[in-house]
Amino acid sequence: MILILLGPPGAGKGTQAKLLSTELGIPHISTGDMFRDHKARGTEIGKQVQAIMDAGGLVTDDITNAMVKERLSRPDVAPGFILDGYPRTVVQAEYLDGLLRSLGRSIDRALSYEVAEELVVERISGRRSCPRCGAVYHVSANPPKRAGYCDRDDAELVQREDDKPENVRKRMQEYGTKTEPLKRYYRDRGELAEVEGVGTPEGILAATKKVLGR
Ligand code: AP5
Repeated sequence: MILILLGPPGAGKGTQAKLLSTELGIPHISTGDMFRDHKARGTEIGKQVQAIMDAGGLVTDDITNAMVKERLSRPDVAPGFILDGYPRTVVQAEYLDGLLRSLGRSIDRALSYEVAEELVVERISGRRSCPRCGAVYHVSANPPKRAGYCDRDDAELVQREDDKPENVRKRMQEYGTKTEPLKRYYRDRGELAEVEGVGTPEGILAATKKVLGR
């Protein structure tokens, strides 16, 4: 199964992608995580995207598409995969269509998580991540056992640079102008399913599975 997860920053795409990946036994591919990994390792791509990401802008389509193309050439995607945060522009969506066509594949569903702006701002401001393993928490909705430290490896949790309020505004604007139009793109093809992204992560997972007929 090939799934695309859409939704504004902080909608819970990453949270749902991790749960779905475990449920369906297919990899979770997050372009945001891949870029953060490049930044942390100080690669050429990491240096190119650092300032754009920290300010809440979108990385260029060329860099993003090339990174996804390489990722989809690996053997673990054979049974299917979940794209979280990609595509994010119509240019990326068209590129993905062509890439999948060349591989003899196509998407099954584009899932759009619908969450009101006040709630995503609340979710983003409370998000803390583990810089070592990438685990994601929320200070009140999904806190770690020991405040400020990762349950898995005890590393000190951090707030993402782009989660600062001034950068969140920019990300919301980018979403509204460049990514939200993708809902129509997939709706016109009969591939869009909207999922209410409010409730517990497990409840939202159940709603997602229902949409997928699982
Ligand atoms: P990316 O990492 O994709 O960020 P995003 O889309 O802004 O999404 P977030 O990671 O902020 O939120 P999410 O929806 O995954 O929510 P989460 O599950 O963490 O991209 C970052 C940047 O990389 C971009 O700004 C851009 O610069 C670049 N980039 C990436 N892809 C690109 C592309 N294709 N093209 C160009 N540039 C690209 O949840 C949020 C919080 O809420 C967490 O604390 C979580 O614990 C909590 N939470 C989740 N679900 C619930 C729930 N049901 N109830 C209560 N709390 C919840």
